[in-house]
Amino acid sequence: MQSKINQYTSEIEAFEPKSAEELEQFRIKFLGTKGIIKDLFDEFKAVSPEQKRVLGKVLNQFKQLAEAKFNDNKDNFTGAAQDAAASEDLTLPGEGFEIGGRHPLNLVRKEIVEIFKRLGFVLAEGPEIEDDWHNFSALNFPEEHPARDMQDTFFVEASSNPETEKGKKSEFALRTHTSSVQVRLMEHGKPPFRALMPGRVYRNEAISARAHCFFHQVEGLYVDENVSFADLKQTLYYFVQELYGEGTKLRFRPSYFPFTEPSAEMDISCTICKGAGCQMCKYSGWVEILGCGMIDPNVLDNVNIDSKKYTGFAFGMGIERITNLKYQIKDLRLFSENDVRFLKQFQTETI
Ligand code: PHE
Repeated sequence: MQSKINQYTSEIEAFEPKSAEELEQFRIKFLGTKGIIKDLFDEFKAVSPEQKRVLGKVLNQFKQLAEAKFNDNKDNFTGAAQDAAASEDLTLPGEGFEIGGRHPLNLVRKEIVEIFKRLGFVLAEGPEIEDDWHNFSALNFPEEHPARDMQDTFFVEASSNPETEKGKKSEFALRTHTSSVQVRLMEHGKPPFRALMPGRVYRNEAISARAHCFFHQVEGLYVDENVSFADLKQTLYYFVQELYGEGTKLRFRPSYFPFTEPSAEMDISCTICKGAGCQMCKYSGWVEILGCGMIDPNVLDNVNIDSKKYTGFAFGMGIERITNLKYQIKDLRLFSENDVRFLKQFQTETI
């Protein structure tokens, strides 16, 4: 063993790498996980205790020698590389590179959230795979009521769940609206609630320029004593003026949702043609942007909130629609295709 070490020592001492590759070969040969030093240490385990005392020292010195050789030269090489870089023309302009932009849906969601934050709304989230209770039953959709078909639901096969009988509708579904988050929020807290709940929702629709099987909503909820429809109108009025500019008109049309009573759909004056008539508003001058209403007392009772004491309002809007009215995007599919030519048009940043 001693003679081997002597031989390798002279080899290391004589070694003068001319390139980073040569140095790497050296490292692998001596210091690598399957290298000579590893072998020597394995061999060392088997020598007699007397020899160990002498050889141990020699072996450690040998290892240090190899490491020092490697480290010294490594620094030389990176040093050389740096010198080469420094001799380049530093007056040349730097190379910028794109770090990409934010997705238009994210930009608009952020804008919506910022506006409601100024009114004291906090953010809340819920799961995308939802159970029947949170998506439907607690929201006052009666069992087997046709209202459940208003929203074409994707049911989730719970085949690994022994409790789901074959042929029976699954208990779980991809949420069809963010109203499920209202239930989650209210069942775990006490009024007052003032929350905004953005998220992705799913409906079983054929994909086309005007419909997609998933899209994004922002839900709003306000529950307290003495909350009235006037509060709902004023909140939405503020929102629309902030988002689309002062002078944007609002109108409420009676509608139906199982979880609000009374319910309404809200239109705004077309932001593209300012009411004159265009393709976006189908020449009516108005575009529907959200559904809303006063929370049905049954919903409050379902989540153990005293509906005699508390009232509230809720609203839900599609982020895609709001975005279209800002950017006139004519084909919904663009939002999910990740085509950089489309995405690049929204706030591309360069550093
Ligand atoms: N959840 C409804 C929808 O998906 C919108 C809505 C939310 C209506 C809250 C009223 C109150 O269309």
